[in-house]
Amino acid sequence: MAAGMETIEHEHAAARASSWWQTAVVYQVYIRSFADGNGDGIGDIAGLRSRLPYLAELGVDAIWINPWYRSPMADAGYDVADFRDIDPSYGTLGEAEALIEEAHRLGIKVIPDIVPNHTSDQHPWFRAALRGARGARDRYVFRPGRGPNGELPPNDWVSCFGGPAWTRVADGQWYLHLFAPAQPDLNWEHPDVRREFEQVLRFWFDRGVDGFRIDVAHGLAKTPGLPDAGTRIPGSQHTDPHPAWDQDAVHAIYRGWRAVANRYVPERIFIAEAWVRSNERLARYLRRDELHTAFQFDFLRSPWRADSLRTVIADAMAGAAAVGAPPTWVLSNHDVPRTVTRYARSQPSHLVESEWERARWATEPADHDTGRRRARAAALLQLALPGTAYIYQGEELGLEEVEDLPHDVRQDPTWVQSGFTDVGRDGCRVPLPWSDCSAPYGFSPGGSSASPWLPQPPHWESHTAEVQAADPNSFLTLYRSAVRTRRRLWENAGPVEWMSAPAGVLAFARGGAQCWVNTGADNVELPANLTVALSSTPGVTGCVPPDTTVWVVEG
Ligand code: NOJ
Ligand code: CA
Repeated sequence: MAAGMETIEHEHAAARASSWWQTAVVYQVYIRSFADGNGDGIGDIAGLRSRLPYLAELGVDAIWINPWYRSPMADAGYDVADFRDIDPSYGTLGEAEALIEEAHRLGIKVIPDIVPNHTSDQHPWFRAALRGARGARDRYVFRPGRGPNGELPPNDWVSCFGGPAWTRVADGQWYLHLFAPAQPDLNWEHPDVRREFEQVLRFWFDRGVDGFRIDVAHGLAKTPGLPDAGTRIPGSQHTDPHPAWDQDAVHAIYRGWRAVANRYVPERIFIAEAWVRSNERLARYLRRDELHTAFQFDFLRSPWRADSLRTVIADAMAGAAAVGAPPTWVLSNHDVPRTVTRYARSQPSHLVESEWERARWATEPADHDTGRRRARAAALLQLALPGTAYIYQGEELGLEEVEDLPHDVRQDPTWVQSGFTDVGRDGCRVPLPWSDCSAPYGFSPGGSSASPWLPQPPHWESHTAEVQAADPNSFLTLYRSAVRTRRRLWENAGPVEWMSAPAGVLAFARGGAQCWVNTGADNVELPANLTVALSSTPGVTGCVPPDTTVWVVEG
């Protein structure tokens, strides 16, 4: 690197080091299931507003809110009909503005979700396309079919939810949808599409949002000519290149978005959902004129094994460091089975291939006590690492995946599109238990008669936020202490220095503190000069029991 370049790199790093998003703890609000303010059994902005003090007490720096835009809800709001309005089931634009203001007053930043890969089939652009309005189909990906009468899809791509990625319309043309048929893919080569999304970013930045989580950030550009994918897997590929994913042309789009964000003070940031095949590919999204951060999904794909965790952590840190970005740690989100349940069964020796494959693990009985011990330990590992940490709502309560939902209540399009073979993601989206001894556990206001949109398990009585707030050994108390202690021990503690540790144990120092993670079956003695500052297993002093993380300091 030339000397001049090096100076710029250092200045760049120094400028970034002072930014809140480099070390933030971000809480993911799945709005439909967080809190219901008006008593219809569906979470909403009023409910979220009423629970902002809970989030302030948890100590998070920001919230990422899953899509809240006007939507027919074919895919829980990831099918947007109007990017500039709030869905009536969630509230109004005025309520969203008030929420942003109130969150800011409590010191919480607000990061909505933006969905640029597709729209709803009810979006005015797609309705115009179906009507055959002149030029309207060019904003989407319409093609003639193959076969003598065009009766076969234009290529062999498969939808991430199952079935073909193409649907035929009345006049015989086909349109592309990498997800549900109600989510037609946009054509990002069309100038209208680029212009529209940059305007949507400005619309929300002008209303004070602090950034965006970008849905399917790796999907917007497709290989020209839309060639067949062959045997390559359809969904979120991790190994083979796929003509629909992670194409180089996507980066010009994000350079445009960054230019929009850069015009705002205080700074507005982006976090990419990009399932790509290597950390080198991921780092391309994080170049200085593109996005600020991108989720590290290998961390959630890893089994509960020290060697695997150490490898994914080291790789993720190296990939991010190469472009001067903070690593971004995710244990769970609204697309994957909850952490407690992933860790409640025997652990595979490999990284799980995709978020959907994981659903098929559920063949052996779940030991939720073990799952909870490991999930507590994983939380302390996550919060000790440098960079940003995302907490999916309910993780702080130690909720498990609800695996026995009756089939007739399932809403995830995966269930139908897979031909009823994949139960999909509803099990991690069950409304939160806040208080009381029976459903809806304070999710809806007292006296409302509507049931939560997905039924809550009867035993969640002992998992409510209210019960846990009063218990010094609860999940919630652990998370509250961890977020607070993280600021003191880890926030500005510098890089990870790995320490040698017995098999099954992961140990590293950052600054004056150390983090020890025991994924093995035996107790591990701690050196005598170390004092436990926080332990995922209550009452621990001189050793690290199995499935436990401790944060220790000298003295
Ligand atoms: C990723 C989102 O997280 C998921 O919930 C959604 O179904 C797809 N993108 C399609 O928008
Ligand atoms: Ca509601």
